Amino acid sequence: MGNKLVVFALVNALLAYYIYIPLPEALGERWKLMLVDACFRSLEHLAELSELVGFKHYMEMMMVLTTAESVGPSSDENVNVMDTTFNQVPVRVYEPKILLPGLRRAVIYIHGGGWCLGSAKMKPYDLLSRKSATELNAVIISVEYRLAPEHRFPDQFNDVYTVVKYFLQQDVLVQYSVDPARVAVSGDSAGGNLAAAVAQQIREDRDVQGEIKVQALIYPALQTIDFNTPSYQQNENMPILPKTLMVRFWSEYFGCDKSLLKMMMANSHSTRESKGLSNFANWSAHLPEEFRKDYKYVPPGIESPEPSGNVPAVFDPRAAPLLVGDEKLQALPHTYIVTCEYDVLRDDGAMYARRLQAAGVQVTHEHYEDSFHGAIMFITWPTDFAIGQKMISHYIEWLQKNL
Ligand SMILES: *[C@@H]1O[C@H](CO)[C@@H](O)[C@H](O)[C@H]1NC(C)=O
Repeated sequence: MGNKLVVFALVNALLAYYIYIPLPEALGERWKLMLVDACFRSLEHLAELSELVGFKHYMEMMMVLTTAESVGPSSDENVNVMDTTFNQVPVRVYEPKILLPGLRRAVIYIHGGGWCLGSAKMKPYDLLSRKSATELNAVIISVEYRLAPEHRFPDQFNDVYTVVKYFLQQDVLVQYSVDPARVAVSGDSAGGNLAAAVAQQIREDRDVQGEIKVQALIYPALQTIDFNTPSYQQNENMPILPKTLMVRFWSEYFGCDKSLLKMMMANSHSTRESKGLSNFANWSAHLPEEFRKDYKYVPPGIESPEPSGNVPAVFDPRAAPLLVGDEKLQALPHTYIVTCEYDVLRDDGAMYARRLQAAGVQVTHEHYEDSFHGAIMFITWPTDFAIGQKMISHYIEWLQKNL
């Protein structure tokens, strides 16, 4: 009996040691977040091990979460849900059942998951789309784009681009009773990246008749120049998206080799090309003071032993939409950008908001002092966080007013 008790106490102590991480006071429901994070970390370790022994690719293991949360296209009392394809790209379409007089609005939604994970079919995304469709009386197109490592840049971008272009055709808009002047693109994390990139590129496409009225970007990834911004430093080990995972996502998107991945981790991956673009992502110039804090600006790549010219796509604006000049930004639609204080990507979003504003674009930058990356995915029991629900409500409210 005594022995059992000792073992029990030991296991508990070990568990507590594994689970406990110091989290900022500002974050709510900290113990729950620690537990969620411990599960994520365990899966990450399992994925690393699995890759090490040659069982499965790291991302293939990580995909179990996506698959586990997958739900079918079932209609409910408010919304008709259907899986279909737009020009061969799979999409899940949500249409409000009630047909009010007049045309409807539409949101083309792009899920997150680092270009490697996630799906429109995941329960939290499915719930978000239903809620948006119902509350906005809007048609929601949730895009099931191809993922890395099987598919690399620009496949993900191209899939989303194809869907947006297809949907903006006059006959398609008519088919869905959508007002051509009230279409949004939106996404979270890697989905925010794809939404921002498509919003930029579609403006220059002469074959596209319609246009995007607003872009709503939830904690988007926007730049590949500097993986050492104050938010990357401050939140290097925050739950859900540690810096190592974010950089790994980028490298998987491009199909970088191990040596380039190492340079990216060390922020020494700059090239002559990226030096010319580095001003666009210079946080010393584009971040408000409250985000710069006491961090010292070090131009990226200064310690680079050799330039990494082997994957030029790393600085392609279709992958890194912050890396364009003001003349491109000026043409962009009304923008909603969400950032979280405890997120490595905070400064990507904050810099984009600043630069868009400076270029004369109307921007609402909603910054959450009490939130973390991925929060809008945590809305179902037992991993539900009040902050996730709050962010979704604000997001829908913004679309209600501005779309
Ligand atoms: C970044 O911005 C700061 C402040 O505006 C400036 O002094 C510095 O030269 C810039 N660095 C790069 C690499 O663009």
